Amino acid sequence: MKKVQDHYFKKAKKQGFPARSVYKLEEVQKKHKLLKSGQTVMDLGAFPGSWSKYAAGVVGPKGLVVAVDIQKPGVIADNVCILQQDVYDLKASNLRRISPHFDVMLSDMAPKTTGRKDVDHFRSVALAERALDLAGELLKPGGTLFCKIFQGKDFPSFRDKCRESFSSVRVIKPKSSRPESVEIFLLCTDKKIAHRAASGSNG
Ligand SMILES: C[S@@+](CC[C@H](N)C(=O)[O-])C[C@H]1O[C@@H](n2cnc3c(N)ncnc32)[C@H](O)[C@@H]1O
Repeated sequence: MKKVQDHYFKKAKKQGFPARSVYKLEEVQKKHKLLKSGQTVMDLGAFPGSWSKYAAGVVGPKGLVVAVDIQKPGVIADNVCILQQDVYDLKASNLRRISPHFDVMLSDMAPKTTGRKDVDHFRSVALAERALDLAGELLKPGGTLFCKIFQGKDFPSFRDKCRESFSSVRVIKPKSSRPESVEIFLLCTDKKIAHRAASGSNG
């Protein structure tokens, strides 16, 4: 992950968060209140752990955050369960043993960038699709998906797929997301009861 030592980087260090990305989630939380006390949250692409740490603070001791990443973050908080796994290998049935359903799914997943915009875009779309499939299997009706994706050719069709599954889909570029970054976020709220069949269902 490229480290930019700007205002947000320094602020994160001072506040004990391992990455500046925490302020993207904080900004959206302040405006849209997607996380609430007592909720069960899945955080996909959780390393090094800023979003999980922030979410754990909001959901509190009665809530739970399941943090998934290929890379293993250190201990984040008592109410964070860490799964070191590739998201493509995750089985919904195993996750249901941790919690039968989730209130919120976060995905800040990003592919290792290659420098080729189209390749990076398609890999990011694949990760976002995987998050949407897992949301279909594990999010409860009324649940929320907050998901990163790199902008590009397939962004509109991904946004439309989200619209099939959620009553509201907002496109958000947080202030702390560097303007030159192609990343953008979708805040999908109120998951519909009849979610589309998950294309990559494995569980
Ligand atoms: C931008 S970082 C996440 C930062 C994190 N939200 C935080 O605040 O600390 C993106 C993460 O996505 C993870 N990732 C990429 N592909 C993945 C996959 N197939 N399965 C699980 N995690 C993946 C990477 O390992 C990386 O840690």
